[in-house]
Amino acid sequence: MSHFSYRDGVLCAESTPLNRIAEQFGSPTYVYSKAALCQNFAAYADACRGRDALVCYAVKANSNLAILNLLARQGAGFDLVSGGELQRVIAAGGDTGKCLFSGVGKTRDEMRLALEHGILCFNVESIPELHLLNEVAGDMGKIAPVSLRVNPNVDANTHPYISTGLKDNKFGVAFDDALATYRAAAALPHLAVAGIDCHIGSQLLDDAPLLEALDKVIELIDALAAEGITIHHLDIGGGIGITYDDEQPVPVGAYLARLFARIDGWRAAKHGGAPIKVLFEPGRSIVGNAGLLLTETLYLKHGESKNFAVVDAAMNDLMRPAMYEAWHRVQPVMPRRQPEKTYDVVGPICESGDWLARSRALALEPGDLLAIMSAGAYGMTMASNYNTRPRAAEVMVDGDRVHLIRQRETVADLFALETLIA
Ligand code: LLP
Repeated sequence: MSHFSYRDGVLCAESTPLNRIAEQFGSPTYVYSKAALCQNFAAYADACRGRDALVCYAVKANSNLAILNLLARQGAGFDLVSGGELQRVIAAGGDTGKCLFSGVGKTRDEMRLALEHGILCFNVESIPELHLLNEVAGDMGKIAPVSLRVNPNVDANTHPYISTGLKDNKFGVAFDDALATYRAAAALPHLAVAGIDCHIGSQLLDDAPLLEALDKVIELIDALAAEGITIHHLDIGGGIGITYDDEQPVPVGAYLARLFARIDGWRAAKHGGAPIKVLFEPGRSIVGNAGLLLTETLYLKHGESKNFAVVDAAMNDLMRPAMYEAWHRVQPVMPRRQPEKTYDVVGPICESGDWLARSRALALEPGDLLAIMSAGAYGMTMASNYNTRPRAAEVMVDGDRVHLIRQRETVADLFALETLIA
């Protein structure tokens, strides 16, 4: 069920008409549905019920405190890629004991912060990182729990920028080096080997590559066990995709059912049925279709070969089209009964790459509101202030109630940290 639908000719978020949100909060504004977020998280939580499993929401997808808090209250853990994201989770009341720290470039200060807060595990991506973490933990008199992010060399069949599991990617430890790297980790006095991690890419529509990666991870866990290195948890990363247009991603429940069936079969065959803790790091599939970007049409330009709808949102607000040629559905908030024209929907930024949608059939007049759909993930978190554009407001809708969860920035905010020289 979509939480964004037309009622009496007006596009609504749950039961709140989007034009009301635009009147109250202006535009561009990110609009999230609380019910959609909860439903998407529940798809994972329900499939994990009764198991030793933890869903660690990938904060990078959308890091608004209200969203983190909502997910924390549903029992979520978090997958972090910076000390900043850890501080967000703390500010949002999340449990640091359920946090994973991923990423290829963790700094000494970030390691220290994460150790102070007792995170669940560091997903380590290289040997030098193992050594630095060992040193930082030693200085603090702590033992750092670690997983190695192994790179299974599986093709995720997704956009090259968001495919991460191939051997040419910068991520992870090469599969062939994994055993030796684990031996190195196990020998370091201030590290404790806790788990194994992999993440092969984002926006995967099929779970076959994920299950292929799982098989390789399982193989490695058994090889490690043979050497006396016990793996306590298995983290399969994030990655299930969402529908932007007509894609049909495998449903979360079906994917998890297949994954657990394989894990259970393996544990029964090789480990006397002893369970292993399973972690997930989903981002997009939790927030992507729970949010849209609300924008107002400023001008219509009818050219010889193209028509442009210039709107008040731009690539700085939603970078995905410019960066990945990503396709987002564009829906009029109040559809007009008049002939459609074909428009490129573009922003005010001085770059030809500043477009949000291309060749869309729309019936438009200046002042019309548009919703750029499926913008909840990697929308606001990738926004910038290019062209000195204050970042959009964010609101969370709960039925007919609208909560402002991030004020629109002011221009004064944008240069508050700058100083003139004498
Ligand atoms: N875990 C790790 C280690 C990751 O690198 C990512 C995403 C995730 C989990 C979450 O993956 P998800 O469930 O969201 O697919 N900006 C791009 C997406 C970049 C994804 C980066 N890593 C986009 O807008 O499509």
